[in-house]
Amino acid sequence: METAMQYLKEDPWKITEKTFDTKWLGKAEAIMCLGNGYLGMRSVTEEKYVGETRNLFVAGTFNKFDENEVTELPNVPDMIGMELLFDGERLDLSKGKYSNYSRVLNLRTGELTRSFQWKHGQINVELTFKRCVSFAQKHVFAQQVLVENLGKEVTLEIISGIDGQKTNSGSQHFTEGDKSLTENRFLQMMPKTTQSKIAFVLSTVHNLEKTEDCYDGTKKRIEMGRRKIYNRYWQTLAPNETLKLEKFSSVYTTIDKEHLGKTPQDLKKIALEELKEIRKNGYQELAKASAAAWDKEVWSVFPIKIKTENTLDQLAIHFAKYHLHVMTPAHDERMNIGAKGLSGEGYKGHTFWDTEIFMLPYFTFTHPEIAKKLVTYRYLGLAGAHKKATENGYQGAQFPWEAAWPEDGETTPVWGAADILTGLPTKIWSGFIEQHITSDVTYGIKQFIDVTNDQQFAWEKGYEVIFDTAIFWASRLEWSEENQRFEILDVVGPDEYKEHVDNNAFTNHTAHWNIQLAISLYEELKKNQPEQFAKLAEKLPLNEAYQEWQTKVAAIYLPQPNEAGIIPQDDTYLTKKEIDLTKYKNDSQVGTLFHEYNLEQVNEMQVSKQADVLLLLFLFENLFSKEEKRLNWDYYEPKTLHDSSLSLSTHAILAADLGEIALSYDLFQQAINIDMGENMLSSNEGIHAASLGGIWQMTVFGYGGVRCLDGQLRIEPHLPKAWEALEFGIMWHQQPLKIEVTQEGFTVTNHGEQAIEFIAFDKVYLLEEQIKITF
Ligand code: BGC
Repeated sequence: METAMQYLKEDPWKITEKTFDTKWLGKAEAIMCLGNGYLGMRSVTEEKYVGETRNLFVAGTFNKFDENEVTELPNVPDMIGMELLFDGERLDLSKGKYSNYSRVLNLRTGELTRSFQWKHGQINVELTFKRCVSFAQKHVFAQQVLVENLGKEVTLEIISGIDGQKTNSGSQHFTEGDKSLTENRFLQMMPKTTQSKIAFVLSTVHNLEKTEDCYDGTKKRIEMGRRKIYNRYWQTLAPNETLKLEKFSSVYTTIDKEHLGKTPQDLKKIALEELKEIRKNGYQELAKASAAAWDKEVWSVFPIKIKTENTLDQLAIHFAKYHLHVMTPAHDERMNIGAKGLSGEGYKGHTFWDTEIFMLPYFTFTHPEIAKKLVTYRYLGLAGAHKKATENGYQGAQFPWEAAWPEDGETTPVWGAADILTGLPTKIWSGFIEQHITSDVTYGIKQFIDVTNDQQFAWEKGYEVIFDTAIFWASRLEWSEENQRFEILDVVGPDEYKEHVDNNAFTNHTAHWNIQLAISLYEELKKNQPEQFAKLAEKLPLNEAYQEWQTKVAAIYLPQPNEAGIIPQDDTYLTKKEIDLTKYKNDSQVGTLFHEYNLEQVNEMQVSKQADVLLLLFLFENLFSKEEKRLNWDYYEPKTLHDSSLSLSTHAILAADLGEIALSYDLFQQAINIDMGENMLSSNEGIHAASLGGIWQMTVFGYGGVRCLDGQLRIEPHLPKAWEALEFGIMWHQQPLKIEVTQEGFTVTNHGEQAIEFIAFDKVYLLEEQIKITF
């Protein structure tokens, strides 16, 4: 496939686009998106093009367009757009000729720069656009435009302001709201979401200068249109003259945690004061402070360094970390990470199991304070989880497959893509029966407690979720007279190409684990922490639940390896027909199987969308032998299409565990290219958040060999041939550890005050300062 993206070998910090093609607008918009966890902005160009997706999102501001639809993150009015007209001719790269084009996202500073020369008739100009969403001041973003006139005298007209004519693919989530001009300079607009009634305060201001502060020659006029407020500027540029335009904008909402209780009018004043200050200091200052915040909060925290000739691998790590921080609402535990982050309308901004199984480990092991917010979100979601359980006739906490505002409960849409045979929309069953999400949530919380040893969180929130989810599972089990065991029927497991299956191995094993965990916790707390235990027992019927867990747990059916050593993915998977998948496996697009079959037909084949049994073997590796892993790998890998971006990283890690390092590295290469790679259409709906968490996991869990197993730290690295050395860090029980791996061995250094224990190759080590181990 053709590609316009280029990764410069010498620079592991930059994503660069060298040609501009309106066929591929979505790629750069998504993979170069900017943000700070509060704001997420697709990197659309200032001038508009057909096919663009102009998105700006504010984390957590969900709205429901219509009663029959699910809630989604609304697309906020645009403040990035600008029209530039030279002698009346609109800047448009599909007209005339452009040269020296580049668009570069500097991951280190979070700044986006686009520059080119444009010639059209008499017009000959050089343009440089810079932009950043401040990582230091979360409400603010800024732009700088330099226009250098390389031709004859030209008049430049600029139209720029706030444009509220934006929708989510046609759904308008906002009322128009008041518009105002203050001090003849500051434009403000105050739309409100139609159903959730969140008031937004949007503010913007421009600074226009010729080369040396010469504002005088500019004529300007304020204009308003429907859902629009903007300035129109006119300026004449003599040959060789340069004009500098800076634009500063901000967003506040009435759900902002630090301003709860304030009226929109209060927020308007706050925004105005802030904008005055940043306008005075200028773009450069803002960009500098933002870059410094990136450095302090992200790049200097447990940096990962790979010694290799493949700069792309190092770039991939930076790319993943950059986006993980752009998309994560670290400022507010009432919000979580969307499956497409804040980079597109895909999945409506909703949170899935992607958080616990794929993104959360990065934060748990390197930014525990952010991880704590993410797990607290699930605690706050208990109300929604109770609602879902009750609606389905169960007890305890059943977490929603898709989640938005914590109390909302289930937000999965009911209808999806077209069925090619019936021509009707396909029903999305995951909101009804993809139930492993409940044990995934518990898994994330348990891992957080084990890795951080955050007892306060455990007591105040974590243990309650563990108990409440076990109560759900106990009520969910179904007794089979025929088999004399408890079963879990009619579910979707992680592999979404198999619907309405019975006894999905992943679901049954993780439900069993969840109940077993609650049993041990109950016993331990009751014995050792009676007072604290009593507090929890006041909230939940723990004694009754314990009786039930105990009677049920031993009779839960746990699919076991058959004679060939294969764990059946569900009751019927192994009896289904096998087809040749080579064509689909080799296709650069995912989901091409559906160009020939519908889901009903795929349901009857031994083909998996994503890791299912193999994910179980990775997450609970203590429960299975190496031999079982190998046999199941050989069986399931060829049947897995990796049509979900959640799949490749798991397979890469398992391959590394099995000693198949070359194969693992090949899967690593495929996985890092899900967004960064040459497929120019794959990121249109937004980047793949889970695959970015997967990049960190492949590096630290896969090649760094780190695992948290039954509460213990294990470090067993194995590097791919292409890597001479790998250096990374993790926080274990609040002690910062640095791990340096080479092909010959590894060193673990404890930069904390307290000694910690870890296991490597079946030996237990007590790490005080430093331990070196050779292979
Ligand atoms: C995958 C799910 C995932 C969801 C959101 C689906 O395509 O099959 O496992 O949670 O995407 O990323």
